[in-house]
Amino acid sequence: MRNGRMSEVTSALSGRLAFGGDYNPEQWPEDQWPEDVRLMQEAGVNLVTVGVFSWALLEPEEGRYDFGWLDRVLDLLHAGGIRVDLANATATPPPWFSRAYPQSLPVDEHGAVRSYGARQAFCPSSPDYRSAAARLTTAIVARYAAHPAVVLWHVHNEYGCHNWHCYCDTSAAAFRTWLRQRYGELDALNDAWGTAFWSQHYYDWEEVLPPRTPAYQTSVNPTQQLDFWRFSSDELLDCFRAEARILRRHSAQPVTTNFMHFFKPLDYWAWAAEQDLVSNDHYLMAEGLGERGATHDLAMSADLVRSLAGGSPWLLMEHSTSAVNWQPRNPAKAPGQLRRDSLSHVARGADGALFFQWRASRAGSEKFHSGLVPHAGTDSRQWRDVVALGSELRSLAQVTGTSVESEVAVLFDWHSWWGLEMDSHPSADVNLMTEVRSWHRALWEQGVTCDFVHPDAELDRYRLLLVPNLYLVSDAAADRIAQFVRGGGTVVVGWFSGIVDENDHIRLGGYPGAFRELLGIQVEEFAPLLAGQQVTVTGLGRDHLATVWAERGQGTDAEVVASYADGPAAGDPAVTRRSRGQGTAWYIGTRLPPDALKEVLGRAMGDAHVVPVLDLATWPAGLDAVRRRGADGSYLFAINHGGEPVRVPAEGTDLVTGRDWTTGTTLAAGDLAVIVQR
Ligand code: GLA
Repeated sequence: MRNGRMSEVTSALSGRLAFGGDYNPEQWPEDQWPEDVRLMQEAGVNLVTVGVFSWALLEPEEGRYDFGWLDRVLDLLHAGGIRVDLANATATPPPWFSRAYPQSLPVDEHGAVRSYGARQAFCPSSPDYRSAAARLTTAIVARYAAHPAVVLWHVHNEYGCHNWHCYCDTSAAAFRTWLRQRYGELDALNDAWGTAFWSQHYYDWEEVLPPRTPAYQTSVNPTQQLDFWRFSSDELLDCFRAEARILRRHSAQPVTTNFMHFFKPLDYWAWAAEQDLVSNDHYLMAEGLGERGATHDLAMSADLVRSLAGGSPWLLMEHSTSAVNWQPRNPAKAPGQLRRDSLSHVARGADGALFFQWRASRAGSEKFHSGLVPHAGTDSRQWRDVVALGSELRSLAQVTGTSVESEVAVLFDWHSWWGLEMDSHPSADVNLMTEVRSWHRALWEQGVTCDFVHPDAELDRYRLLLVPNLYLVSDAAADRIAQFVRGGGTVVVGWFSGIVDENDHIRLGGYPGAFRELLGIQVEEFAPLLAGQQVTVTGLGRDHLATVWAERGQGTDAEVVASYADGPAAGDPAVTRRSRGQGTAWYIGTRLPPDALKEVLGRAMGDAHVVPVLDLATWPAGLDAVRRRGADGSYLFAINHGGEPVRVPAEGTDLVTGRDWTTGTTLAAGDLAVIVQR
């Protein structure tokens, strides 16, 4: 496990939070660059990412490099006191490359070759791409490792964003190599994939393929699919590793690649272990998350990224000053939102807030994406907001290096996610993010901070563990959870958890196989609901209407907290609770509506003695409060995303305004405070 080197970047920034973004000077005439640097100084920008999509300009033809312009940009930035996160520029090979090596283009599951002309048009297993990327990385690091402006290496960009799976023959061969390493013998693969079913037995490794589009209206072997997700994440990670190795061999600066938080194709637990510091890109989804959903997403994303970083400070590599351009409808941010959004990440452990991108482009696919310098120029509210944010971040320098503490963990596993959402399951409405989002939100709306944990994580420092939809689980992870409960922890397991082992084979003897004993329940049959169907759940105060899922079964020695009053599982338990050793194990067997879920998780919090970060009788809508703690005291971030003033019961000094804070002080609608408590 690497990680933890964000402090080297902040030291290079004189102990300040990082502020800046992607700087793409190649999109602009050179005589404008000095003005860019002057404006960066005006805004307090101290870190910019350069060269992400510069391959075509840096290597105009194979083996011939043109570094002149980049030399001049880096020298100019250095002279202006701006530090650089320098990309190795491998994110998108130039058209000449794709034309010279057409077999490097990615192929989709239908066998169609995907073209260049956008970005990331390469097969992750392509030896031609890999050696060209290695040569370019070597040339760049050889030239710039000693450049005084460079404080961080930015490998590639958002790995897998557009090419997470490739089904070409090269990928097929690489998949077989990966499978040989995993299984050794073909018989072991046949066993793991359950190929006795549907006449799929393999007699020769060469018969094994990626899960290409199957014959009409049927389903590809699920373990083959699961292994292909695993392979594809590993294959891109190999690309990262190879490039990072070259950078590390020639340079002492830390190395990172920017994550996309809950990005399904990449197992970021495995990726995070290879980063010198974890960095992330976060963009708000304008639609589909419901009221306050986007605000909550800021917190949930940052909680994941901090957890991936093992609790160390991390870097928000990209977000947007206002609108993006890649959603169907792209709303502008409301006044004040830029500041609230940026500080939401800092509150949860980011030691900097960078953006895509410095200047809003005038050409290309992202010309309608906001930037730090908008199309309107600097005589604009957007620019004034950027300058104000820069100054605010400067005033928060002392939070760098501090960390966020949490007593609650949410178990999150990419392998289980891949297995959970496979076709041919009891219900197509099962969706991990819907579930994780609502569980995390139920705590967020009560002022409780959560970490995310890998199934193999140490759980000792937590009081409460949430396990939503952990479909696939190893024996070792299930044992660790049981041990956590026996040792006094409280766990809440969600429906359709503990169902299969790592090979996606059902755990026999009744559901939820891996957790039956711990929870004291025995589910005989799933009873998924039809689209729009609701069932009544009684026992949680008033009746509630649950959706998507129900189960026929019984609590053996668990207390039945709530049951189904109607529907396919009428009379059976919906929510159970059982004391185990010194701890407590809860089970939720259906998708509860938000208020009912809040009620159950609230009771579990009571069992675990978990308390919110602020002592408030009811948590005001839109208040995000979280604490960062350092050697000299703690910093309570209170961000009021709501439309009403809220009272924040805390004592200390607001770092942003310098005013004293007492328990009666209110935070105006849309405002924020960082209250230092010593
Ligand atoms: C991602 C990419 C950037 C840009 C932004 C737009 O984060 O890394 O290059 O495309 O999205 O939102």
